Amino acid sequence: MAQRCVCLLALAATLLLVFPTVSRSMGLKSKEHQRASRIPSQFSKEERVAMKEALKVFPTVVSTSFIQHEVVEEYSHLFTIQGSDPSLQPYLLMAHFDVVPAPEEGWEVPPFSALERDGVIYGRGTLDDKNSVMALLQALELLLIRKYIPQRSFFISLGHDEESSGTGAQKISALLQSRGVQLAFIVDKGGFILDDFIPNFKKPIALIAVSEKGSMNLMLQVNMTSGHSSAPPKETSIGILAAAISRLEQTPMPIIFGSGTVVTVLRQVANEMNVIPPVAQATVNFRIHPEQTVQEVVELTKNIVADNRVQFHVLSAFDPLPISPYDDKALGYQLLRQTVQSVFPEVNITVPVTSVGNTDSRFFTNLTTGIYRFYPIYIQPEDFKRIHGVNEKISVQAYETQVKFIFELIQNADTDQEPVSHLHKL
Ligand SMILES: *[C@@H]1O[C@H](CO)[C@@H](O)[C@H](O)[C@H]1NC(C)=O
Ligand SMILES: *[C@@H]1O[C@H](CO)[C@@H](O)[C@H](O)[C@H]1NC(C)=O
Ligand SMILES: *[C@@H]1O[C@H](CO)[C@@H](O)[C@H](O)[C@H]1NC(C)=O
Ligand SMILES: [Zn+2]
Repeated sequence: MAQRCVCLLALAATLLLVFPTVSRSMGLKSKEHQRASRIPSQFSKEERVAMKEALKVFPTVVSTSFIQHEVVEEYSHLFTIQGSDPSLQPYLLMAHFDVVPAPEEGWEVPPFSALERDGVIYGRGTLDDKNSVMALLQALELLLIRKYIPQRSFFISLGHDEESSGTGAQKISALLQSRGVQLAFIVDKGGFILDDFIPNFKKPIALIAVSEKGSMNLMLQVNMTSGHSSAPPKETSIGILAAAISRLEQTPMPIIFGSGTVVTVLRQVANEMNVIPPVAQATVNFRIHPEQTVQEVVELTKNIVADNRVQFHVLSAFDPLPISPYDDKALGYQLLRQTVQSVFPEVNITVPVTSVGNTDSRFFTNLTTGIYRFYPIYIQPEDFKRIHGVNEKISVQAYETQVKFIFELIQNADTDQEPVSHLHKL
């Protein structure tokens, strides 16, 4: 979830002042670096054990005859697990193993060390989303070791660039489409279990995201070199732009706009400027509610700004995801509910929600109407800041529970029954 994180960035904005730029070529100087001294190839006992163990990670997954492993788009992985009953429609479990950058500053341990302290593993990706990649393969490995043979076929898709463009997932989606696959449902990361979420209600609740907000990066630009000679000299490009952003922020539309940051950034920069730039730009990131479209938000924004000196350029955009079914007959949703009930007996409320961020699953709408985003993990408010922030971590116990959840979910999916309404306890 790069700028597409579930938990971050309700509204992010950047400001860019455009000056006539001289492009200076930095010309990579490719000097050969000579090593001062060679590092001897001697390894400690622990390192040799680690080497041997690494060779044996998930050996059953990759050597089982009814599992096909394919590398897609060079780095993404697709596993096809052939079930024994071809009459059951297959499903897809997905995760991604790329992460956002993690500068060392502020971390209690080096961000890529995966150091364990007091039963907690720290490191970039421990919650987003290497935990899911490993838990999926681990759960499958543990099932296979126990001689499990699925009845219902399923796929595991592991994307390599979810945080940026999602090309891996797009290719996997295209590949499955080219093979004529239709999926019963998809489970990706997204919702989670929250404790103490509703005031005066002490029971934890499970949030299953059945839709995702859309997203748009809209660039607002004011160009005062382009024939606005009639503008009073006091009006600068940055002043006009600041006023436009301010109007957006003051609009009482919490569905579209977050609060705060844009105008602050603009003013700070404006105060520090001693040259007045002819062109000012601000890029505003919008999250688009499932009941609106990109086009509607653009029109709305133009109407609110109501200043024809401000130009609008959509840099990138996509519409919100359709809402997946969550009624008694929705197989994926009910399987998740059932598995929540067995793995987290203390959670007796499951709620469908809309995810603020986006995942690779958005490329799979041609394959199914049932896309669900759920982490079987308790998330505390401070964890939201850790995802894409410093000191991202997961407890060993939470990870084990995630493995257990997938282990149960895969077996629960072997049902040949329609979901039954007694699951529906609310
Ligand atoms: C601003 O407008 C001038 C005059 O129309 C044009 O030459 C220039 O390229 C524009 N700058 C940008 C950044 O669009
Ligand atoms: C979905 O299918 C349509 C029709 O075949 C195709 O044009 C489109 O590119 C597909 N979209 C995705 C995201 O795969
Ligand atoms: C959830 O649990 C509480 C306390 O155990 C109970 O009072 C409540 O009826 C339960 N709700 C549902 C929907 O099962
Ligand atoms: Zn992310």
